Amino acid sequence: MTERRLLLVNGPNLNLLGTRQPEVYGSTTLAEIEALTAKAAEEVGLSLRAVQSNHEGVLVDEIHAARTDCAGIVINPAAYSHTSVAIADALRSVGLPVAEVHLSNIHAREPFRHHSYVSAVADMVIAGAGPLGYEMAVRYLADRLGA
Ligand code: DQA
Repeated sequence: MTERRLLLVNGPNLNLLGTRQPEVYGSTTLAEIEALTAKAAEEVGLSLRAVQSNHEGVLVDEIHAARTDCAGIVINPAAYSHTSVAIADALRSVGLPVAEVHLSNIHAREPFRHHSYVSAVADMVIAGAGPLGYEMAVRYLADRLGA
């Protein structure tokens, strides 16, 4: 591993966490999720770069950028999970280990949320664990990377 850094990617509408449908997504804000994920990374000797965007192409660009300076990717693609071949292809193209996180259990929700294009590329998928899922994703990647 050249860099001991993870990329954390959060997709559309996750900037509103804390106030967005708290009955579904809880009351933890995005800033708090980024902080707890960075802390989990620090605990296993990794650093973290956190990005959030509501724009598909920006997310594709951020995933590409990870190719040169990150060792793994934690991603909650949000609604793009269910629609974006471009994000799945970007993850496929960079060849880094990928942990896919969903705060809610997408399989217990509307049928259109049951399929994620990203899951076919992800090395692990966690759904329904809330913010804890991000910590678990970091621990999984650390183990994968021998960190
Ligand atoms: C989500 C689930 C998606 O279906 C939804 O579009 C999101 C968030 C989750 O974290 O549970 O925005 O990825």
